Amino acid sequence: PEAITVQELANRMAEKGADLVKELFSLGMAVTVNQTIDQDTAELLVEQFGHNIQKVSDADIDIKAEEDVDPEETLKPRPPVVTIMGHVDHGKTSLLDALRGTNVTRGEAGGITQHIGSYQVKTKNGDKITFLDTPGHAAFTEMRARGANVTDIVVLVVAADDGIMPQTVEAISHAKAAGTPIIVAINKMDKEDANPQKVRERLLEQEVIVEAMSGDVQDVEISALKGTGLDELLDKIALQAELMELKANPDRAAEATVIEAQLDKGRGPVASVLVTRGTLKKGDALVAGTMSGRVRAIIDDQGKQIKEAGPSMPVEVLGLGGVPNAGDQLTVVENEQRAREVAEYRQDKANEQRTALAPTNFDAMFAGLA
Ligand code: GTP
Ligand code: MG
Repeated sequence: PEAITVQELANRMAEKGADLVKELFSLGMAVTVNQTIDQDTAELLVEQFGHNIQKVSDADIDIKAEEDVDPEETLKPRPPVVTIMGHVDHGKTSLLDALRGTNVTRGEAGGITQHIGSYQVKTKNGDKITFLDTPGHAAFTEMRARGANVTDIVVLVVAADDGIMPQTVEAISHAKAAGTPIIVAINKMDKEDANPQKVRERLLEQEVIVEAMSGDVQDVEISALKGTGLDELLDKIALQAELMELKANPDRAAEATVIEAQLDKGRGPVASVLVTRGTLKKGDALVAGTMSGRVRAIIDDQGKQIKEAGPSMPVEVLGLGGVPNAGDQLTVVENEQRAREVAEYRQDKANEQRTALAPTNFDAMFAGLA
């Protein structure tokens, strides 16, 4: 909206359209009330009529996240979010399969993970751990980089027969860049040529120093195929999580991070999200990036519809008007009108940035007209 009709401008200023036309005429412009004028001319008129232009800042319309810190007493323990990383075919999905007791790998095209899957696993103590499975394929570097940012702990899967490979190194650098602690799972220990000691030594070169090498990084030998070492791995994750004292306020409007999103033929836009704080409920009005909507359904990692989802829960959300981007923040707001307002504001801003036009638009410019 980079132009406005004379009449609309007059309405917003509570002036007569004819008076604006007169003023414009004296400025050398012959226009009628129904014609549009550009932003500079509009600003000039506003000043001529003695009104102030109050430029609206982001904070007036968009969501004020930074002011919205949860007080200490509202925080409750939440499950850790663990991302499984490692070189292609080192057994990330197999490990998750083994932990969940399901078999996802078989259903994957060519056995290669092409998206970020997320699941919650219960330990024998009843503690929950949220796992994100990331693709090991080189083409998905960027997606993996995003995965590292919502993550509390990285489990680095290294095949004991193959050792440290390029994407192992890359995963280490993502984890380090995000400041995320690493637990090393040395996988495929059932193989004859498994050489876990070599893995530990080669990790030294990457400055990942495991306990056996007098460092402080936990490591565990496992076989995703045979199911060995898994309890020990879960224990180590729980131990690491305990040290981190992970907490969130569950009793507030939800916020979540979009892990991935797509348009589903039958269900419309589907966003896979991870709740970061608050509790997401069916019926909630929400904004995700530049999209808005109302929660029509929440689906858990078992494919079951649930009514609500608390902190660290990975769920699919249905009901957005469009497909958000991976990495977008999802925020629950008071009502759908507010959701639309925020989404439209962000869309406008995105459009402005694309076309590199003036930093304000008419709606923003006159929203606070005195
Ligand atoms: P991408 O998602 O493509 O990066 O692979 P991934 O790391 O998820 O590996 P995936 O779990 O698909 O396993 C790759 C291959 O290694 C499969 O053939 C698995 O059966 C095999 N594999 C995984 N874990 C083990 C293990 O502990 N022992 C043995 N012998 N084979 C394993
Ligand atoms: Mg996989």
